[in-house]
Amino acid sequence: MIRVGVVGYGTIGSRVADAVRSQSDMKLVGVVKPTPDYRAEIAVSLRGVRFFAPSEGGLRAWRERGLPIHGTLDDLLREVDVVVDTTPGGKGRGMRDTYESTGVKAIFQGGEPPDVAEVSFVAQVNYDAARGRRFVRVVSCNTTGLARLLYALDREFGVERAIVTLVRRAADPKEVKKGPIDALVPDPPRIPSHHGPDLQTVVPGLNVITMAVKAPTTHSHVHSLAVKLGRETSREDVLGMLSSERRIVLVSAASGFRSTADVLDIGRELGRPRADIYENVVWADSVSVNGRWLYLFQAIHQEAIVIPENIDAIRAIATDLSAERSMDLTDASLGVKSGRIFRPP
Ligand SMILES: NC(=O)c1ccc[n+]([C@@H]2O[C@H](COP(=O)([O-])OP(=O)(O)OC[C@H]3O[C@@H](n4cnc5c(N)ncnc54)[C@H](OP(=O)(O)O)[C@@H]3O)[C@@H](O)[C@H]2O)c1
Repeated sequence: MIRVGVVGYGTIGSRVADAVRSQSDMKLVGVVKPTPDYRAEIAVSLRGVRFFAPSEGGLRAWRERGLPIHGTLDDLLREVDVVVDTTPGGKGRGMRDTYESTGVKAIFQGGEPPDVAEVSFVAQVNYDAARGRRFVRVVSCNTTGLARLLYALDREFGVERAIVTLVRRAADPKEVKKGPIDALVPDPPRIPSHHGPDLQTVVPGLNVITMAVKAPTTHSHVHSLAVKLGRETSREDVLGMLSSERRIVLVSAASGFRSTADVLDIGRELGRPRADIYENVVWADSVSVNGRWLYLFQAIHQEAIVIPENIDAIRAIATDLSAERSMDLTDASLGVKSGRIFRPP
């Protein structure tokens, strides 16, 4: 049994904690969270989560609120094999020394710089590179979605060049202070955006250029891709490959799937926890092939896509399980799908 601690209980931390709880080979020992708010209260009463404060000074707030608190971060680190850091982007870098001094292995998130860890990780691409490492970084939602897709295309057809435009959700639903409310913002205004170089930390040598625009929505990114393949192929062959690729699903506008609103809706209709969609959502309608050029749209649920990767990263650094076995366990426990999830029109 792998003993896991989670540091941070926000968008990513709460999901990672629940995903750990659903693995038969892992035990969620506890979660570090500064604020004893309603999320903490729900986690304690419905899920039996054990909370720890970041430091001694943080214990008082929990006691005053009347919520159980089981010690500090240092106490939790003494009880775990692996810690998953889900603190706000940039903070994890400062936590690394603490994790290092206690000997636990640590997984960081995409908001940290690549040099926070020995490996930038996407399970389908480079699980083995993370095996037995001390520090691993699960890359951002956009990078994860692009790495899954472009790695599969490269393996099957070769990728000579990829040109990607990312339309990014501006904020997560609870981030009320972030904008824009009524604008589209080139973000960053320079080209390429940081996503391409980040992608190359996972798929070295990939010839990719990325451009990003922030849009006033809180759920899901949309990627538009133009990919020059290594050889000519057909639309049918690309759809066939995508249909059998793990963690990628195909949807179509003809079956009612027209926008990112449907990504959210489908998560609700499927009864997924927090309406989460862990898979790349590729519009089959958009898949077009012209000689060696392939064009398509995909949507990425930013809050959820990195959750399977965090679970696989835990196994990669803490066990001898193979990539396939780990992903099988993860996908079965979370109900991750692949292929066409609705009848083709
Ligand atoms: N959100 C996304 O869509 C997304 C997608 C992929 C990757 N990521 C990456 O995942 C990481 C986390 O992002 P997020 O969106 O989950 O952030 P978030 O929702 O703001 O959650 C951050 C959590 O960290 C806690 N925290 C703050 N300071 C802490 C400290 N000193 N010790 C322990 N916990 C502390 C916060 O506590 P309180 O709740 O008590 O305030 C909160 O629970 C970032 O690197 C981000 O770039 C985010």
